[in-house]
Amino acid sequence: MTARKIIIDTDPGQDDAVAILLALASPEIALLGITCVAGNVPLPLTVRNARIVCELAGRPDIPVFAGCDRPVAQPLVTAEHVHGNTGLDGADLPEPMMPVQAAHAVDFIIDTLRREPPGTVTLCPIGPLTNIATALARAPDIAPRIARIVLMGGAYFEVGNITPAAEFNIFVDPEAAAAVFAAGVPLTVVPLDVTHKALTSAAWLGAMRSLGTPVGRAVAGWCNFFERFDKEKYGSQGAPLHDPCTIAWLLAPHLFTGREINVEIELQGTFTRGMTVADWWRVSGRPRNAFFLGGVDAQGYFALLTERLARLVP
Ligand code: BDR
Ligand code: CA
Repeated sequence: MTARKIIIDTDPGQDDAVAILLALASPEIALLGITCVAGNVPLPLTVRNARIVCELAGRPDIPVFAGCDRPVAQPLVTAEHVHGNTGLDGADLPEPMMPVQAAHAVDFIIDTLRREPPGTVTLCPIGPLTNIATALARAPDIAPRIARIVLMGGAYFEVGNITPAAEFNIFVDPEAAAAVFAAGVPLTVVPLDVTHKALTSAAWLGAMRSLGTPVGRAVAGWCNFFERFDKEKYGSQGAPLHDPCTIAWLLAPHLFTGREINVEIELQGTFTRGMTVADWWRVSGRPRNAFFLGGVDAQGYFALLTERLARLVP
């Protein structure tokens, strides 16, 4: 088996942290590096949090890069109200010791795509798309070399979570999102339509605690923390575990359903800026540019997470 080479572009975030852990726990995946972006919390904290997660998994060898500290064309919007002041509230973990790489995240993305054979590196953005769009703008030659972009962002039936019309990752940097969706790169999009069906539960948190490992305890603590916000907001029993769906799709695409459709990013709307205008019913005649997921076998997803996270015994 040749492991699939990926770069995770991220703004950890508890759900980002679980996505990183899922990748590190999976031999089918070779994580070439983690590129951090400003999003859930400002850049210094996302860089800190990514390193905490690597050390928790016993993988201080994973290169972590600092990227863009603000969106392409607007001020940064953050989400401490969901993720806490550190972005990773809910588990008591030591400050990281491992270094931050000297190179900028955007340079790492460009250099890696130019170095590796074309079509062999997959990008997994699970935060605002600033780093990816900046890399594409600076080095358009990398676009045809990207195997696929598998991103968490947007929504159609679920519409929005940060505004009535927009999902957080797209809303924070709509210009970047528009550039990525127009880049002609194969795209898999994990929207809220999927992640709102992937809800944590008391049973799953219990399963995490029962692993009896630092990873299990941290994941349970994180999810318990951010659940409080979503349970209150949605009146649900648990919270959407968004970002690991991207990695789960790479590992087990049969757990998901979706459609090849056209998706455009609304940049102008008075009330709808950052909306993913997804032509689910294929009525626009616009060319297809994304595999937009719509369904998930939530039981299978959480079973996969449990089985994989159990392997992380640093
Ligand atoms: C997305 O926004 C962030 O808060 C989460 O980490 C996820 O990437 C969900 O809208
Ligand atoms: Ca995220």
